[in-house]
Amino acid sequence: MSEIRNLINITDFTTEEIDHLIEVAEDIMKDPVKYQDMCAHKKLATLFFEPSTRTRLSFVAAMMELGGNVLGFDDAGTSSTKKGESVSDTVIMAGCYADIIAMRHPKEGAPVIAATKTTVPLINAGDGGHFHPTQTLTDLLTIHQKKGRLDNFTVGLCGDLKFGRTVHSLIEALLRYEGIKFALISPEELKVPDYVKESMNEAGAEWKEYQKLEDAMPELDILYMTRVQRERFFNEEDYIRLKDSFILTPDLLEPAKEDLIVMHPLPRVNEISVEVDDDPRATYFFQALCGKYIRMALILYLLGMK
Ligand code: CP
Repeated sequence: MSEIRNLINITDFTTEEIDHLIEVAEDIMKDPVKYQDMCAHKKLATLFFEPSTRTRLSFVAAMMELGGNVLGFDDAGTSSTKKGESVSDTVIMAGCYADIIAMRHPKEGAPVIAATKTTVPLINAGDGGHFHPTQTLTDLLTIHQKKGRLDNFTVGLCGDLKFGRTVHSLIEALLRYEGIKFALISPEELKVPDYVKESMNEAGAEWKEYQKLEDAMPELDILYMTRVQRERFFNEEDYIRLKDSFILTPDLLEPAKEDLIVMHPLPRVNEISVEVDDDPRATYFFQALCGKYIRMALILYLLGMK
């Protein structure tokens, strides 16, 4: 029996594997009909212990577009978790009924524990403030689609760089590619954690911290906005004080490069004004679409079909 492959953290995949997934996703985008029956008679279980729009819906759409079926829950309150069943037992059960599992959980490390028990490939669809590897794959596909490469950029990461799991995973992934510089734009309280700075230093990447978005804007090739994560704060007062630290408006984009791409993992709250949606540099809705294609490629890969 071949070994089960899981995706818990983006570091579980080699750069060659990431590049392969991007290649498969781009092929699916070009010729979706070729893939429409590849997962016929296969089932994906979506175990979402925490709210989601894009990740869950794009996983469901991905499996449907591959000709497969989906089962699962989007509210742990409707599962036997409510009766005290453990995450490990829930994952064992899902493996009895499905060929592959996508799981989101609010507790950091829950997928690592679940991975020790799973009998089918397990995908971490986000664990607390920890990892969100399929968002990172989505982000890399988006950049590749828009720029045609994954190296030699100045990337601005703006907002909640402390709790933003997508930011940590994206930095980790981009450090594999040549010539990436980081502009880290955040309030003092929401700076990138030290362990991420250590990773950037070890990789020899250039990085600089900013408190004002306008100071970094002219240099940027990619601007990755993030939401201040209310659900990760210990007290509401701090959240209220920091939540509107950065609001991207058309005025702020004036000194930006013509070919800048503005990304955001979404959901947005206030951090990008809706007027920016009409700017050709706004890439965040296309980014959400890329999420479906990269998850199609990932499902095929973990099922040993691509
Ligand atoms: N980007 C993202 O993870 O969105 P959801 O929380 O809606 O899945």
